[in-house]
Amino acid sequence: MKRLLYILMLLAAVATRVEAQNPGWPVPDDQKGKICLVKFTPDMVKGGEAIYTKNCQSCHGLPAKKNFAAITPSPGDLSEPKAGTQKDGELFYRITTGKVPMPEFRNILTEDERWNVIAYLRTFHKGYVQPDPEKMAGTAGKRIKLSMTYDTLKKRIMVKAVELSKEGTKPAKGAEIMIFVQRYFGAMQLTDPKPTSESGYAGFDWPQDLPGDKAGNIIVSARVNDPTGSLQEAVVSDTLAIGVPTNKPALTDTRAMWSVSSKAPIWMILTYTLAVLVVWYFIIYIILSVLDIRKIKQA
Ligand code: HEC
Repeated sequence: MKRLLYILMLLAAVATRVEAQNPGWPVPDDQKGKICLVKFTPDMVKGGEAIYTKNCQSCHGLPAKKNFAAITPSPGDLSEPKAGTQKDGELFYRITTGKVPMPEFRNILTEDERWNVIAYLRTFHKGYVQPDPEKMAGTAGKRIKLSMTYDTLKKRIMVKAVELSKEGTKPAKGAEIMIFVQRYFGAMQLTDPKPTSESGYAGFDWPQDLPGDKAGNIIVSARVNDPTGSLQEAVVSDTLAIGVPTNKPALTDTRAMWSVSSKAPIWMILTYTLAVLVVWYFIIYIILSVLDIRKIKQA
C-alpha cells in the first residue's frame, strides 16, 4: 500500500515537472532569447498594470490573488513560478500568439504594450533580473530592418540596414549581411557575408551570368548573419529582373519524379496502375474462389 503511494507521488512529481514547462505550448527556440530593448521603468509597470486590468484580468485574475477564471485549460495566476520562471522571450511569444481560449495579442497590443505588461508581471516574480539590453554583444537582441535596391549602373545589390529602437532609427553598422538567390531547390548563398559600413550599407557585385526565368527575374533575399537567431525583421526579399532570361521550362512543366501528380513520369503511372490491377485481380480471384467453395459445399 505504502509503495503504491510512493509511486503515485513520484508520478505526480513527474507530471508537474512536465506541466511546468508547458509542453503543449512550445516556444520556438529563436523567440526565447528575445528581450526588451529598454530597462523596465516604473512608468512601464504602471502602463502594464492598466493594460493587464483591461485585457488579462478577466481570465488570469489579479496577480497573486489566485482568482483566475475556472476554465480549461486553466489560465493560472501569472505571478506563480510557472510563468515567473519563463524567459522574457517566452512570455512575449505567448502573449503575442495566444492559444485558444486566450486571444492572440499580436494586433491588439503593440510590442511596447506587451513589454509593459511583462514589466508589470515581473514585479511579482521574486528573484527575476532583467537581461541587460546594453550588455548584449554586437547586433544580438537588436531590431534591424533591411531594405534592398539594385544599382543598375554599378551592377550591385545595395543593402541598407537600420537599427530600430525606442529612440528612433539609425544606420546599423557592422551588421553581417548575406545574400541569397532562390534556385530550384532552396536558396543559394551568393558570396561571403559582408559587414555594413558606417552608414549602414553593404554592396554586393552582381554576377552578370546568373540565369533567371523567361523575363530574367530572380528572387533575391538579404538577411543578417545572426547565429543567435535573436534578431527580428532582419530579412528582406525581392524579385529583381537582373538575371539572364532563360527559356528553361519550369520545374513542374516536364514529367519528373518530384513533380505534381499530373506530371508524373509515364513509367511511374504505368507501374502504379499495373500494381493496382494485380492486387484487384487477386482480390476478385479470391472472392470468386470463395463463392466456388460455397457452391461445391451446397452441391
Ligand atoms: C480569454 C481568457 C484569457 C485572456 C483574456 C488572457 N489569457 Fe493568458 N491564458 C489563458 C489560458 C486559458 C492560458 C493557458 C493556456 C495553456 O496553457 O494551454 C493562458 C496562458 C497565458 C500565459 C502562459 C502561462 C504559462 O503558464 O505558460 C501567459 C504568459 C499569459 N496567458 C498572459 C496573458 C496576458 C499578459 C494577457 C493579457 C494581455 C492574457 N494572458 C489574457 C487565457 C487568457
